[in-house]
Amino acid sequence: MRNPTRPSRPQPVVTENSVANSPSSLWSVEPFDRQQHDRSAFDCGIPILNEWLATKVSQFEKKDLARTYVLVEAGSTVVKGYYALSNHTVAYESLPADQVKGLPQIDMPVVLIGKLAVDRSLQGQGLGEFLLIDALRRAEYLATKIGIRAVEVDAINEAAKRFYERYDFLSLSDDPHHLFLPMSIIRKLQLPPL
Ligand SMILES: CC(C)(COP(=O)(O)OP(=O)(O)OC[C@H]1O[C@@H](n2cnc3c(N)ncnc32)[C@H](O)[C@@H]1OP(=O)(O)O)[C@@H](O)C(=O)NCCC(=O)NCCS
Repeated sequence: MRNPTRPSRPQPVVTENSVANSPSSLWSVEPFDRQQHDRSAFDCGIPILNEWLATKVSQFEKKDLARTYVLVEAGSTVVKGYYALSNHTVAYESLPADQVKGLPQIDMPVVLIGKLAVDRSLQGQGLGEFLLIDALRRAEYLATKIGIRAVEVDAINEAAKRFYERYDFLSLSDDPHHLFLPMSIIRKLQLPPL
């Protein structure tokens, strides 16, 4: 993975639940709050991801199925991006051969990035990377509390798969769009802790 802090890009800075606070912050990532955040105009170009944020996110929160974090501009409540995390497992059989050495033959505990999207108006400016890094930092934090072998994603299409592969996500054998990034690799990135 490249250095996550690239001077040529806007430097979004996370608040409260992430640490990299700075007075000049342009962006923040916050836990989704249905009373506070305005999702009405969100459009990432993929209807199913728009619809999930519009109609499903509150149920997933309420039923403890996922925690969603939204990207907002400093001082705004308008959602410009989001990701959702859940606890999940990856089948031992789907791990690549070079990843199973020394592991017991059990399903692997992972953090699933169930959704990740940026509003079309802001794509290509580094915010997808920013959200992904925030999710990885959160997963690394969680891995200090419970066993987490990796972060898992189900890329929604080929483009999404290419996006994740830029960050060294590896393919699982059960589905070409099923990818994971071992926690051992995430730790090596030395991301700022949450
Ligand atoms: C995929 C998505 C989250 C990327 O967000 P973004 O803000 O446009 O991406 P960034 O600007 O942070 O790009 C980060 C890097 O990934 C690359 N990248 C972005 N989208 C890519 C794609 N579809 N294929 C390959 N690379 C991609 C960028 O070129 C950039 O690399 P670079 O700095 O070397 O140029 C966004 O395009 C999106 O919301 N798409 C629709 C929803 C979706 O597909 N979500 C994927 C998860 S299911």
